[in-house]
Amino acid sequence: MANTILVGAQWGDEGKGKIIDYLTDDADIVVRSQGGNNAGHTIVLGGDKYVLHLIPSGILRRGKVCVIGNGVVLDPIALVGEIDGLRARGVKVAKNLLISGGAHLVMPYHRALDEQREALKGKNKIGTTKRGIGPAYGDKAARTGIRLADLMNTELFQAKLKARMKENNAVLKSLGAKPIDARKVGQAYLAAAEVLRPFVTNTVVYLHDAIAKGKKMLFEGAQGTFLDIDHGTYPFVTSSNTTAGGACTGSGVPPHRMDNVLGVIKAYTTRVGEGPFPTEDAGLGDRLHEMGREFGATTGRARRCGWFDAVAVRYANMVNGIDQLAITNLDGLDGVEKIKVCTAYKLDGKKITVLPTQCDEVERCTPIYTEFPGWMTSTENARKYKDLPPNARRYVETLASLIGTKLSIVSVGPGRDQTIRL
Ligand code: GDP
Ligand code: IMO
Ligand code: MG
Repeated sequence: MANTILVGAQWGDEGKGKIIDYLTDDADIVVRSQGGNNAGHTIVLGGDKYVLHLIPSGILRRGKVCVIGNGVVLDPIALVGEIDGLRARGVKVAKNLLISGGAHLVMPYHRALDEQREALKGKNKIGTTKRGIGPAYGDKAARTGIRLADLMNTELFQAKLKARMKENNAVLKSLGAKPIDARKVGQAYLAAAEVLRPFVTNTVVYLHDAIAKGKKMLFEGAQGTFLDIDHGTYPFVTSSNTTAGGACTGSGVPPHRMDNVLGVIKAYTTRVGEGPFPTEDAGLGDRLHEMGREFGATTGRARRCGWFDAVAVRYANMVNGIDQLAITNLDGLDGVEKIKVCTAYKLDGKKITVLPTQCDEVERCTPIYTEFPGWMTSTENARKYKDLPPNARRYVETLASLIGTKLSIVSVGPGRDQTIRL
């Protein structure tokens, strides 16, 4: 495995964390290049569950380096909490974590604005994680953001904070929200700065030196293709490029240094938050929720569930250039008698096979399904491809062929060992 970009090919929560942790065994460096602590990547080791929000999912493997790149929006208080939480559980977080000074900070006014804007939208809300992600990327694009490198310079940070607090408190006041105490924010952020200082470096230079030394890198996508700010179901998306290109801009590693793209999909579909979801199926959702599955790793919200949407994932293949596919949560379908896969949509009376660009059109799409017989037995203990029941093999092979890419990993449980390499 050379340098691999791993992306979610659906609406997030595909099981990226589990697959990254598994693949890190064979990598040297794991890089996060977009998103923030809206992400929740779960790794289960033995009986222990770890949920990572900002720190790359390679952190549990000894001898690997984790990098938070310039494209990430970083809440320093949340990051310090995450570092402390891992250390308290005996996970080493020291020289194995590097953070780009170019990463933009998520500030308390971003979180407050996220909350206020969602409330203003009422029933048209996006259903964000309320982590301040949209407003933080908004400031970045408007060139009014504060970066981690600024926080490393107390005077500069204080000056930028003062200017930004003035404007943002005025906006918050106009929305009827409580103003934020700039002095308290300054104190808390400068305290976090001292914890983070040893990790901050020019990660672009680090990554280029590592490439020169022949190190292998994994780029850990957050969110998923249809939450991408450009290619997702806008406006029901996040505010970063969650697709393969985001790994380059968000890390400073150029496209010709990337060797392959691994797309992660669930054997069905889930989505958290609002927005169109053509294959949503309440019955499947009830079934998965009753099994204790599909509750958000960041917000705890019950995820919306539905059948596998091959039309959407084919589009994801186009946008990301998926070389290999990892299918997770196959075991989630273990007891399902008839499994549906969406192979086309009906839109305003016409059959279509491409995901529409406009959200209201996606909203009007009804799925055309092909049905597959289930395997009606547990797959959780399968460790080799041939251990899978024939109907399960037929199912995953059909998904790969509908998407038009190669299948390389099948996951049959949350644990590291519950992984089949093809
Ligand atoms: P991520 O955001 O893409 O990393 O995914 P999440 O961690 O938010 O959600 C995936 C959920 O599925 C987590 O609870 C994982 O532990 C779990 N998971 C991943 N792969 C499998 C699998 O093959 N089977 C089962 N049962 N759970 C899985
Ligand atoms: P991982 O990396 C699933 C969704 C939110 C909301 C929309 C915008 O764990 O797959 P935001 O807070 O980003 O402004 O919310 O995006 N969302 C995710 N859904 N998995 C995630 O991350 C998500 N990160 C954001 O639910 O619909
Ligand atoms: Mg998640």
